[in-house]
Amino acid sequence: MVISVDNLVYYYTKNNYILSDITFNVKDGDRVALIGATGSGKSTLLENLIGLKQPKSGKILINNIHVEDKNLVQVRRYVGFGFQDANDQLFMPTILEDITFGPRNYGVSRAEATDKARFLLAEFGLEAYANRSAHELSGGQRRLAALAAILALEPDILILDEPTTGLDPAWRRKLAQVLLNWLGKALLVASHDLHWLARVTKRALVLHEGKIAIDGEIQPLLQDAQTLENLGLPVDW
Ligand SMILES: Nc1ncnc2c1ncn2[C@@H]1O[C@H](COP(=O)(O)OP(=O)(O)OP(=O)(O)O)[C@@H](O)[C@H]1O
Ligand SMILES: [Mg+2]
Repeated sequence: MVISVDNLVYYYTKNNYILSDITFNVKDGDRVALIGATGSGKSTLLENLIGLKQPKSGKILINNIHVEDKNLVQVRRYVGFGFQDANDQLFMPTILEDITFGPRNYGVSRAEATDKARFLLAEFGLEAYANRSAHELSGGQRRLAALAAILALEPDILILDEPTTGLDPAWRRKLAQVLLNWLGKALLVASHDLHWLARVTKRALVLHEGKIAIDGEIQPLLQDAQTLENLGLPVDW
């Protein structure tokens, strides 16, 4: 199993359970959407998966490794994580250095890391911005640069939190194509953009009231306006 979550419980303040009992598995080859109303706990769940938050109880395995402090270096080698706020990801003086930073840390040569970074910058239309810093980019450009930095690490598992925020339709389509062509093991992506998700993923996990209310194919769910309404996800308003 690529991701295994067993009876995960999480709260920020006691008696206010954000995740009350979460159990699901993600297999090799899975492309999974994480859906849920604003504040339903999607980001909290994703941050638990990579050890940024520690479950109050329950167990998380990534590539069969227990996600706990002593294993985090190993776990994060497998997982590329895109924060909801791209600013959390970009901290070097230039975008090029942001993208080469991770691979250089893992021992890739400067020349190879730079080649790879330039390829990714071109793929995301950011060649001209290689030597600018993140705060000189637009919100959407920052998001693409952050994704380039993640892909440069060639992760097995890609976990993305709201990757389409701030992207225009052409870039949303381009991002969908990049993810469809991506050859890693498993993709888990949280978004409010249900139609975009339906292009990129096959299966949906819906978070509602601290639980996985639905774990099933995304296409039929998208047709089921009543169920979506009941989950706080109106399709038409
Ligand atoms: N640091 C924190 N301290 C206390 N409560 C928090 C904290 N971070 C998040 N929460 C609460 O936990 C709940 C879940 O937040 P989370 O960010 O996981 O939701 P989300 O589903 O990702 O929402 P969105 O769709 O807006 O991104 C919310 O009610 C939020 O107010
Ligand atoms: Mg969120």
